[in-house]
Amino acid sequence: MANVAITGYGDNLTIDGVRIGDLTPHQHGKIEKQKSGNNYSPLEDVVVSHVKDSSTLVVRKPNPDDVSKYIEEELIDGLCCYSAVNQGQLNQTLVDAVIKHLSEEKLPTVPRSIRHKYMSAFLMAATEITGMDRVVPKVAGVEAPELMFKLSRRWGYRVKGIPKDEAIVVGARGNFHGRSMTAISLSDDPDAYNDFGPKVPGIELVEYNNIDALKELFEAKGDRIASYLVEPIQGEAGVIVPNDDYWPQVAELCKKHNILLAMDEVQTGFARTGANFAHQLFGVKPDLMGCGKAAGGGILPVSFVAGSNEVIGVLTPGSEGSTFGGYPLGTVVATYAIKVMEDENLAEKARIGGEQLMSRFNDMQAKFPDKVKEVRGKGLLTAFEMHNEPNLNGHTVSVELLKRGVYAKETHHSTVKVAPALTISADQIDRIADAIDDVIGSL
Ligand SMILES: Cc1ncc(COP(=O)(O)O)c(C=O)c1O
Repeated sequence: MANVAITGYGDNLTIDGVRIGDLTPHQHGKIEKQKSGNNYSPLEDVVVSHVKDSSTLVVRKPNPDDVSKYIEEELIDGLCCYSAVNQGQLNQTLVDAVIKHLSEEKLPTVPRSIRHKYMSAFLMAATEITGMDRVVPKVAGVEAPELMFKLSRRWGYRVKGIPKDEAIVVGARGNFHGRSMTAISLSDDPDAYNDFGPKVPGIELVEYNNIDALKELFEAKGDRIASYLVEPIQGEAGVIVPNDDYWPQVAELCKKHNILLAMDEVQTGFARTGANFAHQLFGVKPDLMGCGKAAGGGILPVSFVAGSNEVIGVLTPGSEGSTFGGYPLGTVVATYAIKVMEDENLAEKARIGGEQLMSRFNDMQAKFPDKVKEVRGKGLLTAFEMHNEPNLNGHTVSVELLKRGVYAKETHHSTVKVAPALTISADQIDRIADAIDDVIGSL
């Protein structure tokens, strides 16, 4: 243990004499590999520095002429932090709200054990926009499905009357709900759960988008099933959009068996899919909905669970809580994230931008039918899947796109997701599509 000297801002941020602005992409990579948990494999030789506009990042790459230096290039952000930045990087309304409240309004930091005046603003805005009775604020996205899981169980015991400790929560194969023990217990991806067992008990998985499989499970075990906890469109699985009639049928089945429909809208919420919340596209209303990511306007981690009086009403003091869930800055940012979604018509932008991108994807599939197997999307949550061949590799596509100034990332071996900020311009969408077209052509 030793003292650490920290001075400066931005490039001048200096740790024990090492100025951040002097580090090369290679040195950044080396520090991360040596000093962090190696739980990510980021693209090599590129380091994001700052924002140019709402969909453009400035990145540093190795200087081909001098290993001790770097060059800066622009990168179109085709991923916007896995849909956390729907409002665009450094959205001015959000930045102003943060700065004003911190510097002029003297925003305090206090926990939920004492009331603060901004909570009311958030609760009024969040219940109105979601159409739900109650909202419970949390922090990370994963905390939303985690809380929906807890709520499902408690509602199952106290309202539905499931015998103690026998509640079942049903998940869908291919799901992604985050990285907590509950989320990985729901997962069927061995990379996520291997050697982290034993899993949380009381979970059953069904095939996604298969109403007969759900029906069979509900008929066999419905009296002990508390909820179907599920993404309205599976994001990390590679943008899997269910059939149009799937959700209405699911909602009916849930009603019949007195089972909660708990939708994880962490990725699909906040206008991403062309509606404020993706379930609205399918004409259903869940009993519980979890939001995260863009709920914090791309600036702060904010998540929440919204739901009915009957379900959220099972919470009692001491049964749930979070130091930073609903603290003043979180509630101000979340309120303004909702305001931006409304004022800037983000759902409409997602719809229009999505049509443009999907039309380009359809052209690309028609042009390269031997390479592109399927294109999928709703709003600006889109993906293309290549045929399963060694050269049609999603990671290679990401690396090649980077060379062409576009950031998008594979979700699986042969699927690449594209989900830019909803504020992206038509020209920037075309530039993303041009780069993808060029890369696919070169494979
Ligand atoms: C549907 C869904 N739920 C939960 C999460 C977890 O969110 P976070 O990584 O912020 O904890 C994600 C993240 O990708 C997600 O897509």
